[in-house]
Amino acid sequence: MSQSDQIVVALSKGRIFKETLPLLASVGIEPLEDPDKSRKLILETSDPSVRLLILRASDVPTYVQHGAADIGVAGKDVLMEHGGEGLFELVDLKIAQCKLMVAGKPGALDRAGRIRVATKYTRSAESYFADRGRQIELIKLYGSMELAPLVDLGDCIVDVVDTGNTLRANGLEPLEHIAEISSRLIVNRAAQKLKHARVSDFVERVEQYLEGK
Ligand code: ATP
Ligand code: PRP
Ligand code: MG
Repeated sequence: MSQSDQIVVALSKGRIFKETLPLLASVGIEPLEDPDKSRKLILETSDPSVRLLILRASDVPTYVQHGAADIGVAGKDVLMEHGGEGLFELVDLKIAQCKLMVAGKPGALDRAGRIRVATKYTRSAESYFADRGRQIELIKLYGSMELAPLVDLGDCIVDVVDTGNTLRANGLEPLEHIAEISSRLIVNRAAQKLKHARVSDFVERVEQYLEGK
């Protein structure tokens, strides 16, 4: 099989992997191993020309941008933080849907002066508040954002919200809506050119599946 017939797909474990499985199955691709059981990070599939890379969600755009993967599935939140350089966003897969929001204790934003914002979404938070002319101080976190305001690490957080259960369980409220989030099929510019036939065939089949849903 020639290189241009091979296709490498970057995915993250957890909800993106689970929600991408039916989509891959519909185009005849089934992983030969379960990433929750195997420690392998490269998974062969039922289609000998397709391999899956199992990555940290926020690393997917980087692997695709540098051509280590041809195609990837990444949340819009992750793409906004990455910046999207060198990437084409081809299809909205409408999976892993949630909202990027500002959240905090009731009234957390009703204060004069700089608002302290604890988040892993520093780029999105910066541009959201800058667009509104609000001065902020960023506190960079890597997870469990909902904890921060409870121990006075910041006035509010920027995080993804789905059911709102995590906010409620921690006495926080959604305060402002930043963006609707879903996962996107991304491809790098080089793969789009050099593997055009293979990539567009894959994308077309995914689109057909989504239209028929
Ligand atoms: P990591 O585990 O590496 O810190 P992560 O927490 O972002 O990364 P996931 O929880 O698998 O990884 O989330 C992957 C993507 O799914 C996110 O980028 C976002 O687009 C979406 N997502 C995150 N949380 C939810 C949720 N509660 N409901 C629906 N979609 C979500
Ligand atoms: C995500 C996110 C929120 C939560 C929101 O966490 O970081 O904490 O989901 O969803 P909800 O509104 O339905 O409660 P996740 O479940 O991915 O756990 P994580 O901390 O391991 O990322
Ligand atoms: Mg998560």
